[in-house]
Amino acid sequence: MSSITVGLGERSYNILFGNDILVGIGGICRALNLGNSVAVVTNPTICALYGEQVRNSLAEAGFAAHPIEIPDGEEFKNIETLKGIYGHFIAAGLDRGSFVLALGGGVVGDIAGFAAATYLRGIPFVQVPTTLLAQVDSSVGGKTGINHEKGKNLIGAFYQPVSVVVDVATLDTLPRREYLSGIAEVVKYGVTLDGDLFDFIFGNVSRLLERDRSCLLKVIQRCCALKASIVAQDEKETGPRAVLNYGHSFGHAVETLTGYTEYSHGEAVAIGMAQAAKISEHRGYSGSMETERIVTLLENLGLPTRLPLFSTTAYKDALLRDKKVRDKGLSFVFNKGIGDYRIDRVTDIMPLLKISGIGA
Ligand SMILES: NC(=O)c1ccc[n+]([C@@H]2O[C@H](COP(=O)([O-])OP(=O)(O)OC[C@H]3O[C@@H](n4cnc5c(N)ncnc54)[C@H](O)[C@@H]3O)[C@@H](O)[C@H]2O)c1
Ligand SMILES: [Zn+2]
Repeated sequence: MSSITVGLGERSYNILFGNDILVGIGGICRALNLGNSVAVVTNPTICALYGEQVRNSLAEAGFAAHPIEIPDGEEFKNIETLKGIYGHFIAAGLDRGSFVLALGGGVVGDIAGFAAATYLRGIPFVQVPTTLLAQVDSSVGGKTGINHEKGKNLIGAFYQPVSVVVDVATLDTLPRREYLSGIAEVVKYGVTLDGDLFDFIFGNVSRLLERDRSCLLKVIQRCCALKASIVAQDEKETGPRAVLNYGHSFGHAVETLTGYTEYSHGEAVAIGMAQAAKISEHRGYSGSMETERIVTLLENLGLPTRLPLFSTTAYKDALLRDKKVRDKGLSFVFNKGIGDYRIDRVTDIMPLLKISGIGA
């Protein structure tokens, strides 16, 4: 098992990495000096795959575990489900000495984290991410929350976990599309923050697609180290943390325009990254070689890069509706070559659309 520290003063914590380490989750939690009572929040899909080993390990380590299942799906990351979780916490008699263990993808992690942040004004929680997206992104950094019918992630809190436990073995069972969705976020780290990581991904596409565990461990650890460093600099996203939104302006626009049904989040982000690469080149922040490498990598991984057909107005509205828009300007993340980034406020959207081939 290896580890990385997220350095946030008294709220610092470790991210632990390993292959087949879920069987020892009880011992890992013991070492964190938490209370004896734990609420394990998960969903039926993940529970069927990993529930038993987690329950057994917690029991062996002497914990009283209270299983809580929420329905599987982004549409359940809402206030009703949250209410249900609080009800279970109360029925199980969780107190300040208890903790929450989130076993699942970003949906489980976000809502269980928010429940932990708000129950009794905050009880400790441990993230056990089981999707690639959650392992490289959502479980690290303390963004927790739920959706509102008027928008995604509108309600939430910054609340750091006391530990993140990443077991790459759990990725074996992930549906291919979910896996690829996470791979898109991995590419994002390479393009904006680490040219060596980008080169490594470029040279190991087939190993990654085969889910080679040692290759995955290396890549996931690097992504988490990059995220940990960004979060340590800018916990509440007032500055550099926004780099993690690379590809997400056009990505969110694509998701909105297609009603969140046609593309997975990562596929939409891949399309967004291809646009961001072209726009960065056009601004002189990057060269045509770099753009080609980025687009080629996404294609080699089997991710889409072309924008679906919608009108200029539709794209313009969708881009401006994004929550990264403040004072009518869009905060846009550009890649500087490969491995570096810059963020500029863009007030005139039309040129961006033209470069992307919309309204040309
Ligand atoms: N907090 C943050 O910083 C942050 C960052 C990015 C995304 N998010 C949030 O994360 C959510 C998306 O997360 P996600 O992509 O992990 O989706 P998800 O949690 O919905 O998981 C995707 C699917 O995979 C299943 N699954 C999970 N692990 C599995 C496994 N090991 N084997 C088989 N199936 C498994 C789930 O049951 C689900 O059906 C969104 O709600 C998004 O807003 C949060
Ligand atoms: Zn994303």
